[in-house]
Amino acid sequence: AAPVQYEAENALISQGVVEANHAGFTGSGFVNYDNVTGSYVEYTVTAAQAGQHTLTFRYANGTTANRPLDVTVNGTLAVDDLAFAGTGAWTTWRTVTATVNLAAGANKIRTTAVTANGGPNADSLSV
Ligand code: GCU
Ligand code: CA
Repeated sequence: AAPVQYEAENALISQGVVEANHAGFTGSGFVNYDNVTGSYVEYTVTAAQAGQHTLTFRYANGTTANRPLDVTVNGTLAVDDLAFAGTGAWTTWRTVTATVNLAAGANKIRTTAVTANGGPNADSLSV
């Protein structure tokens, strides 16, 4: 099936703010994670069928340091320290993919910063 795009600015945000001051995002903005360990964005995504699904995260990281995120699915760690490398500028958006197991129906996909730098700026998740 065609991917569905979930905007970060519509997700559940803990320790982050919706902003729109760096061009190139989709939707109405992006999430600027607070630069602390534990800040997160949690998307509720629907899977038609249980099983393996590709997650495509669109982000920007205007620094030269990786900003890894832990990805949990329904509370269980699915990807440890998924890398979000520098993109060269806060206006340069790239994608990172990961494959995870989803349940049929609604799934909570949480992406949590694991360093004191926080996460990258998060634009969307496509599933
Ligand atoms: C800058 C940038 C923010 C970004 C932040 C960071 O302040 O404008 O969009 O989130 O750096 O380093 O996390
Ligand atoms: Ca930030």
